[in-house]
Amino acid sequence: MANLGEVHPRPSPALSYDHKCATKTSLSSRLKSTPARLCIRACCTNDSFQPQRSSFTFSGDNSSTRGWRVMGTLLGLGAVLACHDQQCRASQESPRRYTREEVKSHSSPETGVWVTLGCEVFDITEFVDIHPGGASKLMLAAGGPLEPFWALYAVHNQPHVREILAQYKIGELSPDDKAPSILKTSDPYADDPIRHSALKVNTQRPFNAEPPPELLTENYITPNPIFFTRNHLPVPNVDPDTYRLNVVGPPGGQSLCLSLDDLYQFPKHEITVTLQCAGNRRSEMTQFKEVRGLEWSLGAISTARWAGARLCDVLAQAGYQLCETEAHVCFEGLDSDPTGTAYGASIPLARAMDPEAEVLLAYEMNGQPLPRDHGFPVRVVVPGVVGARHVKWLGKVSVEPEESFSHWQRRDYKGFSPSVDWDTVDFDSAPSIQELPIQSAITQPKEGETIGSGEVTVKGYAWSGGGRAVVRVDVSLDGGLTWQVAELEGEEQRARKAWAWRLWHLQAPLPAGIKELNIVCKAVDESYNVQPDTVAPIWNLRGVLNNAWHRVHVHVTP
Ligand code: MTE
Repeated sequence: MANLGEVHPRPSPALSYDHKCATKTSLSSRLKSTPARLCIRACCTNDSFQPQRSSFTFSGDNSSTRGWRVMGTLLGLGAVLACHDQQCRASQESPRRYTREEVKSHSSPETGVWVTLGCEVFDITEFVDIHPGGASKLMLAAGGPLEPFWALYAVHNQPHVREILAQYKIGELSPDDKAPSILKTSDPYADDPIRHSALKVNTQRPFNAEPPPELLTENYITPNPIFFTRNHLPVPNVDPDTYRLNVVGPPGGQSLCLSLDDLYQFPKHEITVTLQCAGNRRSEMTQFKEVRGLEWSLGAISTARWAGARLCDVLAQAGYQLCETEAHVCFEGLDSDPTGTAYGASIPLARAMDPEAEVLLAYEMNGQPLPRDHGFPVRVVVPGVVGARHVKWLGKVSVEPEESFSHWQRRDYKGFSPSVDWDTVDFDSAPSIQELPIQSAITQPKEGETIGSGEVTVKGYAWSGGGRAVVRVDVSLDGGLTWQVAELEGEEQRARKAWAWRLWHLQAPLPAGIKELNIVCKAVDESYNVQPDTVAPIWNLRGVLNNAWHRVHVHVTP
Protein backbone atom coordinates (compact mmCIF):
# COMPACT_ATOMS: atom_id res chain seq x y z
CA MET A 1 0.00 0.00 0.00
CA ALA A 2 1.56 3.31 -1.05
CA ASN A 3 2.30 5.91 1.54
CA LEU A 4 0.35 9.09 0.81
CA GLY A 5 3.42 11.20 1.42
CA GLU A 6 5.69 9.23 -0.86
CA VAL A 7 6.78 10.63 -4.20
CA HIS A 8 5.16 8.48 -6.80
CA PRO A 9 7.31 7.51 -9.78
CA ARG A 10 5.51 8.75 -12.89
CA PRO A 11 5.08 6.31 -15.76
CA SER A 12 7.22 7.04 -18.80
CA PRO A 13 4.94 6.36 -21.73
CA ALA A 14 6.47 5.24 -24.98
CA LEU A 15 5.14 8.38 -26.64
CA SER A 16 4.12 11.39 -24.64
CA TYR A 17 1.12 13.46 -25.73
CA ASP A 18 3.07 16.42 -26.95
CA HIS A 19 1.97 18.57 -29.87
CA LYS A 20 5.53 19.42 -30.75
CA CYS A 21 6.63 15.82 -30.57
CA ALA A 22 3.73 14.22 -32.37
CA THR A 23 5.44 14.17 -35.75
CA LYS A 24 6.67 11.26 -37.79
CA THR A 25 10.29 12.29 -37.21
CA SER A 26 10.03 12.53 -33.48
CA LEU A 27 7.91 9.41 -33.33
CA SER A 28 10.48 7.36 -35.20
CA SER A 29 13.39 8.79 -33.28
CA ARG A 30 11.66 8.14 -30.00
CA LEU A 31 10.77 4.65 -31.08
CA LYS A 32 14.41 4.01 -31.80
CA SER A 33 15.42 5.08 -28.37
CA THR A 34 12.67 3.45 -26.34
CA PRO A 35 13.02 0.02 -24.80
CA ALA A 36 9.37 -0.53 -25.71
CA ARG A 37 10.49 -1.39 -29.24
CA LEU A 38 12.00 -4.66 -28.15
CA CYS A 39 8.92 -5.44 -26.23
CA ILE A 40 6.69 -4.82 -29.26
CA ARG A 41 8.61 -7.32 -31.32
CA ALA A 42 7.92 -9.86 -28.67
CA CYS A 43 4.36 -8.95 -27.88
CA CYS A 44 2.74 -7.25 -30.88
CA THR A 45 -0.04 -9.58 -31.88
CA ASN A 46 -2.92 -7.26 -31.17
CA ASP A 47 -5.32 -6.47 -34.03
CA SER A 48 -5.86 -3.00 -32.67
CA PHE A 49 -2.43 -2.06 -34.00
CA GLN A 50 -4.08 -0.52 -37.06
CA PRO A 51 -4.10 2.98 -38.51
CA GLN A 52 -6.63 4.88 -36.41
CA ARG A 53 -9.58 6.16 -38.37
CA SER A 54 -11.67 7.32 -35.53
CA SER A 55 -11.80 11.00 -34.63
CA PHE A 56 -11.03 12.65 -31.32
CA THR A 57 -13.99 14.85 -30.62
CA PHE A 58 -14.52 17.32 -27.89
CA SER A 59 -17.42 19.38 -26.73
CA GLY A 60 -15.92 22.69 -25.73
CA ASP A 61 -16.70 23.08 -28.93
CA ASN A 62 -15.89 19.69 -29.16
CA SER A 63 -14.08 18.72 -32.33
CA SER A 64 -13.61 16.20 -35.01
CA THR A 65 -10.78 16.91 -37.36
CA ARG A 66 -8.40 15.12 -39.57
CA GLY A 67 -5.58 16.60 -37.52
CA TRP A 68 -6.88 14.86 -34.50
CA ARG A 69 -7.17 11.69 -36.46
CA VAL A 70 -3.51 12.00 -37.44
CA MET A 71 -2.64 12.87 -33.87
CA GLY A 72 -4.86 10.02 -32.76
CA THR A 73 -2.97 7.65 -35.04
CA LEU A 74 0.33 8.72 -33.58
CA LEU A 75 -0.93 8.77 -30.07
CA GLY A 76 -2.78 5.54 -30.60
CA LEU A 77 0.45 4.02 -31.86
CA GLY A 78 2.31 5.30 -28.84
CA ALA A 79 -0.42 4.06 -26.62
CA VAL A 80 -0.38 0.65 -28.21
CA LEU A 81 3.37 0.48 -27.77
CA ALA A 82 3.05 1.47 -24.16
CA CYS A 83 0.18 -0.91 -23.73
CA HIS A 84 2.24 -3.79 -25.05
CA ASP A 85 5.12 -2.67 -22.90
CA GLN A 86 2.83 -2.81 -19.95
CA GLN A 87 1.41 -6.16 -20.98
CA CYS A 88 4.95 -7.50 -21.09
CA ARG A 89 5.68 -6.15 -17.66
CA ALA A 90 2.31 -7.21 -16.39
CA SER A 91 3.12 -10.79 -17.21
CA GLN A 92 6.07 -10.49 -14.86
CA GLU A 93 4.63 -8.42 -12.03
CA SER A 94 1.17 -7.98 -10.55
CA PRO A 95 -0.35 -4.50 -10.69
CA ARG A 96 0.24 -2.10 -7.87
CA ARG A 97 -2.90 -1.57 -5.73
CA TYR A 98 -4.37 1.73 -4.56
CA THR A 99 -7.38 2.65 -2.46
CA ARG A 100 -9.95 5.21 -3.63
CA GLU A 101 -8.75 7.41 -0.78
CA GLU A 102 -5.24 7.38 -2.21
CA VAL A 103 -6.55 8.25 -5.64
CA LYS A 104 -8.61 11.04 -4.14
CA SER A 105 -5.53 12.55 -2.51
CA HIS A 106 -3.96 13.04 -5.96
CA SER A 107 -6.13 15.80 -7.30
CA SER A 108 -3.80 18.72 -8.00
CA PRO A 109 -0.64 19.39 -10.01
CA GLU A 110 1.26 19.47 -6.69
CA THR A 111 0.17 16.01 -5.55
CA GLY A 112 -0.10 14.62 -9.06
CA VAL A 113 -3.38 14.08 -10.86
CA TRP A 114 -4.84 10.58 -10.69
CA VAL A 115 -8.08 9.24 -12.08
CA THR A 116 -9.76 5.84 -12.29
CA LEU A 117 -11.62 4.06 -15.04
CA GLY A 118 -13.23 0.82 -13.95
CA CYS A 119 -10.73 -0.74 -11.59
CA GLU A 120 -7.69 0.84 -13.24
CA VAL A 121 -5.75 3.79 -11.82
CA PHE A 122 -4.00 6.37 -14.02
CA ASP A 123 -1.53 9.15 -13.24
CA ILE A 124 -2.43 11.76 -15.86
CA THR A 125 -0.43 14.65 -14.38
CA GLU A 126 1.57 15.10 -17.57
CA PHE A 127 -1.49 14.87 -19.78
CA VAL A 128 -3.55 17.57 -18.06
CA ASP A 129 -1.99 20.53 -19.87
CA ILE A 130 -2.31 18.92 -23.27
CA HIS A 131 -5.87 17.67 -22.86
CA PRO A 132 -7.52 18.88 -26.08
CA GLY A 133 -10.67 19.87 -24.21
CA GLY A 134 -8.67 22.08 -21.84
CA ALA A 135 -6.89 21.43 -18.56
CA SER A 136 -9.72 22.81 -16.44
CA LYS A 137 -12.22 20.33 -17.90
CA LEU A 138 -9.96 17.39 -17.16
CA MET A 139 -9.22 18.64 -13.65
CA LEU A 140 -12.92 18.21 -12.87
CA ALA A 141 -12.24 14.49 -12.75
CA ALA A 142 -9.00 14.75 -10.75
CA GLY A 143 -8.81 12.28 -7.86
CA GLY A 144 -11.89 10.36 -8.91
CA PRO A 145 -13.58 8.28 -11.57
CA LEU A 146 -13.71 9.29 -15.23
CA GLU A 147 -17.04 7.55 -15.87
CA PRO A 148 -19.37 10.45 -14.98
CA PHE A 149 -17.40 12.75 -17.29
CA TRP A 150 -17.19 10.26 -20.14
CA ALA A 151 -20.93 9.81 -19.81
CA LEU A 152 -21.28 13.55 -20.30
CA TYR A 153 -18.63 13.96 -22.99
CA ALA A 154 -19.44 10.69 -24.65
CA VAL A 155 -16.94 11.20 -27.45
CA HIS A 156 -14.19 10.01 -25.12
CA ASN A 157 -15.53 6.51 -24.90
CA GLN A 158 -13.65 5.24 -27.92
CA PRO A 159 -10.88 2.65 -28.27
CA HIS A 160 -8.15 5.09 -29.26
CA VAL A 161 -8.89 7.38 -26.31
CA ARG A 162 -8.66 4.35 -24.02
CA GLU A 163 -5.34 3.56 -25.67
CA ILE A 164 -4.03 7.05 -24.92
CA LEU A 165 -5.16 6.63 -21.34
CA ALA A 166 -3.43 3.26 -21.11
CA GLN A 167 -0.10 5.05 -21.33
CA TYR A 168 -0.71 6.54 -17.95
CA LYS A 169 -1.81 3.45 -16.06
CA ILE A 170 -0.01 3.04 -12.74
CA GLY A 171 -1.99 0.25 -11.13
CA GLU A 172 -5.41 -0.92 -10.05
CA LEU A 173 -7.84 -0.28 -7.24
CA SER A 174 -7.55 -2.54 -4.22
CA PRO A 175 -9.93 -5.51 -4.57
CA ASP A 176 -11.88 -4.33 -1.51
CA ASP A 177 -12.28 -0.91 -3.03
CA LYS A 178 -13.46 -1.72 -6.52
CA ALA A 179 -17.19 -1.39 -6.11
CA PRO A 180 -18.15 1.95 -7.59
CA SER A 181 -19.20 3.98 -4.60
CA ILE A 182 -21.73 6.72 -5.14
CA LEU A 183 -21.18 6.96 -8.83
CA LYS A 184 -23.96 8.33 -10.90
CA THR A 185 -23.11 7.11 -14.35
CA SER A 186 -26.59 7.11 -15.76
CA ASP A 187 -26.83 8.77 -19.15
CA PRO A 188 -27.09 12.55 -18.58
CA TYR A 189 -28.50 12.90 -22.09
CA ALA A 190 -31.29 10.39 -21.60
CA ASP A 191 -33.78 13.21 -21.13
CA ASP A 192 -32.78 15.18 -24.24
CA PRO A 193 -35.72 15.98 -26.54
CA ILE A 194 -36.57 14.04 -29.70
CA ARG A 195 -35.22 15.79 -32.79
CA HIS A 196 -36.25 16.12 -36.43
CA SER A 197 -34.80 13.41 -38.64
CA ALA A 198 -33.87 15.90 -41.39
CA LEU A 199 -31.15 17.44 -39.22
CA LYS A 200 -27.57 16.51 -40.09
CA VAL A 201 -26.15 15.44 -36.76
CA ASN A 202 -22.62 16.53 -35.90
CA THR A 203 -22.60 15.05 -32.40
CA GLN A 204 -25.42 13.30 -30.60
CA ARG A 205 -24.15 13.96 -27.04
CA PRO A 206 -24.16 16.88 -26.63
CA PHE A 207 -26.57 17.38 -29.48
CA ASN A 208 -25.22 19.45 -32.36
CA ALA A 209 -26.95 19.46 -35.70
CA GLU A 210 -27.69 21.59 -38.74
CA PRO A 211 -30.36 21.58 -41.43
CA PRO A 212 -29.26 20.33 -44.87
CA PRO A 213 -28.56 23.14 -47.39
CA GLU A 214 -31.61 22.33 -49.51
CA LEU A 215 -33.92 22.95 -46.51
CA LEU A 216 -31.98 25.83 -45.00
CA THR A 217 -33.09 28.47 -47.49
CA GLU A 218 -36.43 26.90 -48.37
CA ASN A 219 -38.06 29.44 -46.03
CA TYR A 220 -36.99 32.90 -44.92
CA ILE A 221 -37.97 31.93 -41.37
CA THR A 222 -36.40 28.63 -40.38
CA PRO A 223 -39.05 26.23 -39.00
CA ASN A 224 -38.32 25.45 -35.34
CA PRO A 225 -37.75 21.69 -35.80
CA ILE A 226 -34.88 22.24 -38.26
CA PHE A 227 -33.29 25.34 -36.67
CA PHE A 228 -29.61 24.47 -36.14
CA THR A 229 -28.82 23.32 -32.60
CA ARG A 230 -25.59 23.96 -30.69
CA ASN A 231 -25.52 22.42 -27.24
CA HIS A 232 -22.46 22.02 -25.02
CA LEU A 233 -24.22 20.01 -22.30
CA PRO A 234 -27.39 17.98 -21.74
CA VAL A 235 -30.65 19.86 -22.26
CA PRO A 236 -32.15 20.81 -18.88
CA ASN A 237 -35.78 19.97 -18.30
CA VAL A 238 -37.17 23.16 -16.78
CA ASP A 239 -40.58 23.29 -15.11
CA PRO A 240 -42.22 26.52 -16.38
CA ASP A 241 -44.29 26.81 -13.21
CA THR A 242 -41.35 26.88 -10.86
CA TYR A 243 -38.93 28.61 -13.24
CA ARG A 244 -37.35 31.76 -11.81
CA LEU A 245 -34.90 34.15 -13.46
CA ASN A 246 -32.47 35.63 -10.97
CA VAL A 247 -31.47 39.20 -11.94
CA VAL A 248 -28.81 40.35 -9.52
CA GLY A 249 -29.41 43.97 -8.60
CA PRO A 250 -26.80 46.78 -8.48
CA PRO A 251 -25.00 47.51 -5.20
CA GLY A 252 -27.57 48.97 -2.85
CA GLY A 253 -30.30 48.02 -5.33
CA GLN A 254 -32.76 45.19 -5.46
CA SER A 255 -32.39 41.78 -7.05
CA LEU A 256 -35.29 40.43 -9.08
CA CYS A 257 -36.60 36.90 -9.01
CA LEU A 258 -38.81 36.72 -12.07
CA SER A 259 -41.32 34.00 -12.90
CA LEU A 260 -42.48 33.52 -16.46
CA ASP A 261 -45.63 35.47 -15.63
CA ASP A 262 -43.48 38.33 -14.32
CA LEU A 263 -41.56 38.38 -17.60
CA TYR A 264 -44.84 38.47 -19.56
CA GLN A 265 -45.68 41.74 -17.73
CA PHE A 266 -42.85 43.58 -19.49
CA PRO A 267 -43.75 45.08 -22.91
CA LYS A 268 -43.57 42.22 -25.44
CA HIS A 269 -40.99 42.93 -28.13
CA GLU A 270 -40.80 40.90 -31.34
CA ILE A 271 -37.95 40.86 -33.89
CA THR A 272 -36.58 38.64 -36.66
CA VAL A 273 -33.00 37.65 -35.89
CA THR A 274 -30.49 35.36 -37.56
CA LEU A 275 -28.31 33.31 -35.23
CA GLN A 276 -24.98 32.05 -36.49
CA CYS A 277 -22.45 29.90 -34.67
CA ALA A 278 -18.84 31.13 -34.86
CA GLY A 279 -17.97 27.67 -36.20
CA ASN A 280 -20.28 27.86 -39.21
CA ARG A 281 -18.44 26.58 -42.34
CA ARG A 282 -15.60 25.21 -40.20
CA SER A 283 -15.42 22.11 -42.41
CA GLU A 284 -14.04 24.28 -45.25
CA MET A 285 -11.35 25.62 -42.93
CA THR A 286 -10.44 22.08 -41.94
CA GLN A 287 -9.95 21.19 -45.59
CA PHE A 288 -7.26 23.86 -45.80
CA LYS A 289 -5.54 22.90 -42.54
CA GLU A 290 -6.71 20.98 -39.48
CA VAL A 291 -8.56 22.85 -36.77
CA ARG A 292 -10.21 21.75 -33.54
CA GLY A 293 -13.97 21.97 -33.51
CA LEU A 294 -17.18 20.45 -34.76
CA GLU A 295 -17.16 20.12 -38.52
CA TRP A 296 -20.08 22.39 -39.28
CA SER A 297 -21.00 22.66 -42.92
CA LEU A 298 -22.84 25.84 -43.96
CA GLY A 299 -25.93 25.26 -41.83
CA ALA A 300 -24.85 26.52 -38.39
CA ILE A 301 -27.07 29.51 -39.09
CA SER A 302 -30.85 29.94 -38.96
CA THR A 303 -33.44 32.68 -38.66
CA ALA A 304 -36.46 32.99 -36.36
CA ARG A 305 -38.97 35.50 -35.15
CA TRP A 306 -38.24 35.92 -31.45
CA ALA A 307 -40.49 37.52 -28.86
CA GLY A 308 -39.88 38.42 -25.23
CA ALA A 309 -38.99 41.18 -22.81
CA ARG A 310 -36.26 43.63 -23.72
CA LEU A 311 -33.19 43.13 -21.53
CA CYS A 312 -32.88 46.92 -21.10
CA ASP A 313 -36.38 47.05 -19.56
CA VAL A 314 -35.60 44.25 -17.11
CA LEU A 315 -32.23 45.77 -16.15
CA ALA A 316 -33.87 49.17 -15.69
CA GLN A 317 -36.43 47.60 -13.35
CA ALA A 318 -33.57 46.12 -11.33
CA GLY A 319 -32.17 49.65 -11.00
CA TYR A 320 -29.37 49.61 -13.57
CA GLN A 321 -28.34 52.63 -15.57
CA LEU A 322 -25.78 52.99 -18.29
CA CYS A 323 -22.51 53.90 -16.60
CA GLU A 324 -19.32 55.48 -17.85
CA THR A 325 -17.11 52.68 -16.60
CA GLU A 326 -16.80 49.43 -18.49
CA ALA A 327 -19.29 46.78 -17.41
CA HIS A 328 -20.60 43.51 -18.77
CA VAL A 329 -23.89 41.69 -18.47
CA CYS A 330 -23.13 38.09 -17.57
CA PHE A 331 -25.60 35.31 -18.36
CA GLU A 332 -25.73 31.84 -16.85
CA GLY A 333 -27.63 28.90 -18.30
CA LEU A 334 -29.38 26.17 -16.30
CA ASP A 335 -27.38 23.53 -18.17
CA SER A 336 -24.37 22.44 -16.19
CA ASP A 337 -21.64 19.84 -16.04
CA PRO A 338 -21.30 17.34 -13.17
CA THR A 339 -19.55 19.89 -10.98
CA GLY A 340 -22.43 22.30 -11.40
CA THR A 341 -20.52 24.63 -13.72
CA ALA A 342 -23.10 26.28 -15.94
CA TYR A 343 -22.81 27.46 -19.53
CA GLY A 344 -22.14 31.19 -19.42
CA ALA A 345 -21.34 34.19 -21.60
CA SER A 346 -21.49 37.98 -21.48
CA ILE A 347 -22.09 41.07 -23.58
CA PRO A 348 -21.08 44.68 -22.87
CA LEU A 349 -23.55 46.58 -20.69
CA ALA A 350 -23.69 49.35 -23.32
CA ARG A 351 -25.28 46.92 -25.81
CA ALA A 352 -27.60 45.45 -23.19
CA MET A 353 -28.91 48.85 -22.11
CA ASP A 354 -29.33 50.24 -25.63
CA PRO A 355 -33.02 49.97 -26.60
CA GLU A 356 -31.95 50.18 -30.27
CA ALA A 357 -29.82 47.04 -29.86
CA GLU A 358 -33.05 45.15 -29.05
CA VAL A 359 -31.46 42.49 -26.84
CA LEU A 360 -34.25 40.14 -25.75
CA LEU A 361 -35.02 37.74 -22.97
CA ALA A 362 -37.01 35.65 -25.42
CA TYR A 363 -39.75 33.22 -24.47
CA GLU A 364 -41.22 32.70 -27.96
CA MET A 365 -39.70 31.41 -31.18
CA ASN A 366 -41.81 31.72 -34.31
CA GLY A 367 -44.97 32.21 -32.29
CA GLN A 368 -44.40 29.14 -30.08
CA PRO A 369 -42.89 28.73 -26.63
CA LEU A 370 -39.17 28.12 -27.13
CA PRO A 371 -38.46 24.48 -27.98
CA ARG A 372 -36.37 22.73 -25.32
CA ASP A 373 -33.30 22.55 -27.59
CA HIS A 374 -33.46 26.30 -28.10
CA GLY A 375 -33.64 27.36 -24.46
CA PHE A 376 -37.11 26.73 -23.00
CA PRO A 377 -38.42 28.63 -21.19
CA VAL A 378 -36.21 31.73 -21.63
CA ARG A 379 -33.08 32.53 -23.63
CA VAL A 380 -31.08 35.61 -24.49
CA VAL A 381 -31.23 36.85 -28.09
CA VAL A 382 -28.50 39.36 -28.94
CA PRO A 383 -29.17 40.62 -32.48
CA GLY A 384 -26.11 40.85 -34.71
CA VAL A 385 -23.89 38.97 -32.27
CA VAL A 386 -22.31 35.50 -32.40
CA GLY A 387 -24.60 32.64 -31.30
CA ALA A 388 -22.44 31.81 -28.27
CA ARG A 389 -23.73 34.88 -26.41
CA HIS A 390 -27.41 33.94 -26.89
CA VAL A 391 -27.50 32.00 -23.63
CA LYS A 392 -30.26 29.38 -23.50
CA TRP A 393 -32.18 28.11 -20.43
CA LEU A 394 -31.33 31.42 -18.80
CA GLY A 395 -31.06 31.17 -15.01
CA LYS A 396 -29.09 34.21 -13.93
CA VAL A 397 -28.26 37.72 -15.12
CA SER A 398 -25.70 39.91 -13.36
CA VAL A 399 -23.71 43.02 -14.18
CA GLU A 400 -19.99 42.71 -13.57
CA PRO A 401 -16.91 44.89 -14.07
CA GLU A 402 -15.36 42.13 -16.19
CA GLU A 403 -16.52 39.75 -18.89
CA SER A 404 -18.00 36.41 -17.82
CA PHE A 405 -15.36 34.04 -16.44
CA SER A 406 -17.00 31.20 -18.33
CA HIS A 407 -14.78 28.93 -20.41
CA TRP A 408 -16.91 29.84 -23.44
CA GLN A 409 -16.24 33.54 -23.00
CA ARG A 410 -12.56 33.41 -22.08
CA ARG A 411 -11.11 30.21 -23.51
CA ASP A 412 -13.19 29.70 -26.61
CA TYR A 413 -14.95 31.70 -29.33
CA LYS A 414 -11.97 33.92 -30.03
CA GLY A 415 -10.10 34.52 -33.29
CA PHE A 416 -6.32 34.30 -33.82
CA SER A 417 -3.72 34.87 -36.51
CA PRO A 418 -2.99 31.92 -38.83
CA SER A 419 0.48 31.89 -37.27
CA VAL A 420 -0.84 30.98 -33.81
CA ASP A 421 -0.84 27.30 -32.90
CA TRP A 422 -1.75 25.31 -29.78
CA ASP A 423 1.72 25.79 -28.35
CA THR A 424 1.67 29.57 -28.69
CA VAL A 425 -1.99 30.47 -28.26
CA ASP A 426 -2.75 33.01 -25.53
CA PHE A 427 -6.52 33.23 -25.09
CA ASP A 428 -6.19 36.34 -22.90
CA SER A 429 -4.63 38.25 -25.80
CA ALA A 430 -7.71 38.14 -28.04
CA PRO A 431 -11.10 39.78 -27.57
CA SER A 432 -14.11 37.51 -27.30
CA ILE A 433 -16.11 37.37 -30.51
CA GLN A 434 -19.20 39.56 -30.39
CA GLU A 435 -20.36 40.96 -33.77
CA LEU A 436 -19.71 38.63 -36.69
CA PRO A 437 -18.28 39.53 -40.11
CA ILE A 438 -20.15 39.57 -43.46
CA GLN A 439 -21.09 36.07 -44.56
CA SER A 440 -22.75 34.34 -47.52
CA ALA A 441 -23.06 30.79 -48.82
CA ILE A 442 -24.58 28.84 -51.69
CA THR A 443 -27.31 26.35 -50.78
CA GLN A 444 -28.27 25.36 -54.34
CA PRO A 445 -26.83 23.63 -56.31
CA LYS A 446 -24.87 21.38 -54.00
CA GLU A 447 -21.18 20.52 -54.23
CA GLY A 448 -20.60 17.81 -56.84
CA GLU A 449 -24.17 17.91 -58.18
CA THR A 450 -24.92 17.38 -61.86
CA ILE A 451 -27.25 20.02 -63.27
CA GLY A 452 -29.10 20.28 -66.61
CA SER A 453 -27.74 22.38 -69.46
CA GLY A 454 -29.26 25.64 -70.67
CA GLU A 455 -29.73 27.51 -67.41
CA VAL A 456 -28.64 27.42 -63.78
CA THR A 457 -30.41 28.68 -60.66
CA VAL A 458 -28.10 29.52 -57.77
CA LYS A 459 -29.58 30.16 -54.30
CA GLY A 460 -28.13 31.06 -50.94
CA TYR A 461 -28.09 33.28 -47.88
CA ALA A 462 -26.16 36.40 -46.86
CA TRP A 463 -25.91 38.05 -43.44
CA SER A 464 -23.65 40.43 -41.58
CA GLY A 465 -23.14 41.02 -37.87
CA GLY A 466 -23.80 44.20 -35.89
CA GLY A 467 -27.03 44.94 -37.78
CA ARG A 468 -25.13 45.83 -40.97
CA ALA A 469 -27.48 45.34 -43.91
CA VAL A 470 -26.47 43.18 -46.87
CA VAL A 471 -26.40 45.49 -49.88
CA ARG A 472 -25.24 43.11 -52.62
CA VAL A 473 -24.39 39.51 -53.39
CA ASP A 474 -22.06 38.77 -56.31
CA VAL A 475 -22.11 35.37 -57.97
CA SER A 476 -19.53 33.94 -60.34
CA LEU A 477 -19.96 30.81 -62.46
CA ASP A 478 -16.30 30.69 -63.50
CA GLY A 479 -14.41 30.63 -60.23
CA GLY A 480 -14.34 34.41 -59.78
CA LEU A 481 -13.25 35.58 -63.25
CA THR A 482 -16.58 37.25 -64.02
CA TRP A 483 -19.46 38.21 -61.73
CA GLN A 484 -23.23 38.70 -61.86
CA VAL A 485 -25.32 40.42 -59.20
CA ALA A 486 -27.85 38.14 -57.49
CA GLU A 487 -31.39 39.19 -56.69
CA LEU A 488 -31.99 39.78 -52.98
CA GLU A 489 -35.29 38.38 -51.73
CA GLY A 490 -37.61 39.57 -48.98
CA GLU A 491 -38.00 42.91 -47.28
CA GLU A 492 -35.52 45.77 -47.43
CA GLN A 493 -33.45 45.81 -44.26
CA ARG A 494 -33.25 48.64 -41.78
CA ALA A 495 -29.82 50.28 -41.86
CA ARG A 496 -27.78 49.41 -38.74
CA LYS A 497 -30.64 47.23 -37.50
CA ALA A 498 -30.55 44.49 -40.12
CA TRP A 499 -30.64 41.59 -37.68
CA ALA A 500 -31.76 38.93 -40.14
CA TRP A 501 -30.30 37.38 -43.28
CA ARG A 502 -31.23 38.03 -46.90
CA LEU A 503 -31.94 35.08 -49.10
CA TRP A 504 -30.86 35.52 -52.71
CA HIS A 505 -30.96 33.81 -56.08
CA LEU A 506 -29.46 34.12 -59.52
CA GLN A 507 -30.90 32.59 -62.67
CA ALA A 508 -28.33 32.58 -65.46
CA PRO A 509 -28.16 31.08 -68.96
CA LEU A 510 -25.31 28.66 -69.58
CA PRO A 511 -23.15 28.70 -72.69
CA ALA A 512 -23.75 25.69 -74.96
CA GLY A 513 -21.31 22.85 -74.42
CA ILE A 514 -20.17 23.93 -70.97
CA LYS A 515 -19.30 20.87 -68.88
CA GLU A 516 -18.73 22.26 -65.40
CA LEU A 517 -19.23 25.36 -63.30
CA ASN A 518 -17.15 26.76 -60.48
CA ILE A 519 -19.80 28.74 -58.66
CA VAL A 520 -18.67 31.34 -56.14
CA CYS A 521 -20.61 33.81 -54.02
CA LYS A 522 -19.55 36.82 -51.96
CA ALA A 523 -21.62 39.44 -50.18
CA VAL A 524 -21.12 43.12 -49.39
CA ASP A 525 -22.63 44.87 -46.34
CA GLU A 526 -23.61 48.49 -45.83
CA SER A 527 -20.14 49.32 -44.45
CA TYR A 528 -18.73 47.86 -47.70
CA ASN A 529 -17.18 44.99 -45.80
CA VAL A 530 -16.47 42.11 -48.18
CA GLN A 531 -15.57 38.46 -47.75
CA PRO A 532 -11.96 37.27 -48.24
CA ASP A 533 -11.47 35.13 -51.33
CA THR A 534 -9.80 32.20 -49.60
CA VAL A 535 -9.54 30.56 -46.20
CA ALA A 536 -5.72 30.81 -45.96
CA PRO A 537 -5.46 34.37 -44.58
CA ILE A 538 -8.25 33.86 -42.05
CA TRP A 539 -7.41 30.32 -40.94
CA ASN A 540 -7.25 30.00 -37.15
CA LEU A 541 -6.66 27.06 -34.84
CA ARG A 542 -10.27 26.91 -33.58
CA GLY A 543 -11.74 27.20 -37.06
CA VAL A 544 -14.04 30.09 -36.19
CA LEU A 545 -15.14 33.05 -38.31
CA ASN A 546 -14.87 31.39 -41.69
CA ASN A 547 -16.42 33.81 -44.16
CA ALA A 548 -14.25 33.12 -47.20
CA TRP A 549 -15.97 33.13 -50.61
CA HIS A 550 -18.16 30.07 -50.76
CA ARG A 551 -17.37 27.82 -53.72
CA VAL A 552 -19.38 24.99 -55.26
CA HIS A 553 -18.23 22.85 -58.16
CA VAL A 554 -20.95 21.28 -60.34
CA HIS A 555 -21.11 19.19 -63.51
CA VAL A 556 -23.38 20.11 -66.43
CA THR A 557 -25.07 17.38 -68.44
CA PRO A 558 -24.29 17.70 -72.17
N1 MTE B 1 -26.63 28.48 -24.02
C1 MTE B 1 -26.49 27.48 -23.14
N2 MTE B 1 -27.06 27.59 -21.94
N3 MTE B 1 -25.80 26.35 -23.45
C2 MTE B 1 -25.20 26.21 -24.68
O1 MTE B 1 -24.59 25.18 -24.94
N4 MTE B 1 -24.71 27.25 -26.84
C3 MTE B 1 -24.45 28.56 -27.44
C4 MTE B 1 -25.70 29.42 -27.39
N5 MTE B 1 -26.27 29.40 -26.09
C5 MTE B 1 -25.31 27.27 -25.61
C6 MTE B 1 -26.09 28.39 -25.23
C7 MTE B 1 -23.99 28.52 -28.82
S1 MTE B 1 -22.35 28.22 -29.05
C8 MTE B 1 -24.80 28.82 -29.87
S2 MTE B 1 -24.18 28.92 -31.43
C9 MTE B 1 -26.22 29.07 -29.70
O2 MTE B 1 -26.63 28.91 -28.35
C10 MTE B 1 -27.02 28.11 -30.54
O3 MTE B 1 -28.37 28.30 -30.32
P1 MTE B 1 -29.40 27.24 -30.90
O4 MTE B 1 -29.01 25.89 -30.41
O5 MTE B 1 -30.75 27.68 -30.45
O6 MTE B 1 -29.26 27.33 -32.41
